[in-house]
Amino acid sequence: MSQTLKAVRGTRDLLPPETALWNRIEATARDVFARYNFGEIRTPVFEDTALFARGVGEETDIVSKEMYTWEDRARAQSEKTQTLTLRPENTAGVVRAYIEHQMGESGQLQKLYYIGPQFRRERPQKGRYRQFYQIGAEVIGPPSAGSESPLRDAEVLEMLATLLDELGISGWTLELNSVGSPTDRARYNDALRAALVPVVSQMCVDCQRRAVTNPLRVLDCKVPADQPIIETLPKIADYLDDGSKTHFAAVIAALDAAAVPHNLNPRLVRGLDYYTRTTFEFTHGGLGAQNALLGGGRYDGLSEAIGGPKAPGIGFAMGLDRLVLTLLAQLDQKAAPKADAFVAPLGEGLNAAALVLARELRHGGLWIELGEGSFRLKKSFETADKCARQIVILGEDELKSGIMTVKNFSTGNQTKVPRAELAAFLAEPAAS
Ligand code: HAM
Repeated sequence: MSQTLKAVRGTRDLLPPETALWNRIEATARDVFARYNFGEIRTPVFEDTALFARGVGEETDIVSKEMYTWEDRARAQSEKTQTLTLRPENTAGVVRAYIEHQMGESGQLQKLYYIGPQFRRERPQKGRYRQFYQIGAEVIGPPSAGSESPLRDAEVLEMLATLLDELGISGWTLELNSVGSPTDRARYNDALRAALVPVVSQMCVDCQRRAVTNPLRVLDCKVPADQPIIETLPKIADYLDDGSKTHFAAVIAALDAAAVPHNLNPRLVRGLDYYTRTTFEFTHGGLGAQNALLGGGRYDGLSEAIGGPKAPGIGFAMGLDRLVLTLLAQLDQKAAPKADAFVAPLGEGLNAAALVLARELRHGGLWIELGEGSFRLKKSFETADKCARQIVILGEDELKSGIMTVKNFSTGNQTKVPRAELAAFLAEPAAS
């Protein structure tokens, strides 16, 4: 026998009934985005590797270790062999599209959202996959459109609080920081590097490496023994220039006015190089080690870094996989939702009539499962009980008289219902 093939490590199949929850989350997100005047953008799943190297940053873990990259051979004389990458995130692709379609020419702010798969070769664990899904949004435009305003940051954060509340996610925490301008960050990096020299030998091996390659990443360390040392390191807030300080204060004031709760977290520096000024994460205690439900921030220099005009922006991406995990743990979603009714023909001669009845009810907006006339009545009842709230028996008598027999599984009641009233009867919540 040949070897059974399985989904690749770090990828997984999403199956019903869980996919119903995925759809509900996506529908809620689309609804909230529409109310905040965002439109949908769909960018390709793979892009030129240079986009991520220049956009996300060559030194980041994502670009240096986690990308799925390949040489795409030319198929014709007119083509060149290219180095392509499955997108590890969507912000760089959105900004590339913004530049390519000259979306800044309108002089308006562009408010764009996306829902789709992303790919990173990380070590798989609960809440961390190699193909995962993000729901994200970006607000970008020329400075004359107000794209640098702290009000944009506050609006995005307030929208996220609304979205998580509407999704029914309780107990989230908003962690907020400002990483300042690239020059602020360079000064801070130097200060960190200097402060690490006398203490780094007492820290974990990862921190010893980070202290040399990218001192900011020391702040992400989770090793308990390193925490007291990290607490003593310089804070980025002390290295912000006046512009960044005023901007951040205005973001906080607007959040306070809108009563969006937040924690200032000076250690939140995020793992992508394009961030400037405001950065944030929403975390959730129920997720374990991978506790970030979503992350984002401002990226005022990204467009220029990939060859575009000045186009400050702010955005976020939420891990759809992690939203699903949180909601599954919160609600008891294990009980599969059930159809409104199961139509059971009594005998194969009634199969066609049952199809017609099911069609009638489905057109009436009901969720119907269709049985099979070769089943004995007992088997029809057992099958129906597993997947539907009610069963409609369709025998010769019912067909002739137009009076259907309906049994409700939760109340045990059996009722005779005229065909014309059947859809309304089955839909009745009281009947469930
Ligand atoms: P990120 O923090 O790399 O930011 O990812 C955002 C969210 O995607 C994370 O908070 C997490 O929920 C989810 N996520 C990331 N990696 C995985 C994984 N391997 N498995 C499951 N979920 C994952 C970005 O991607 C930025 N583009 C966000 C952004 C948009 N910043 C500005 N605009």
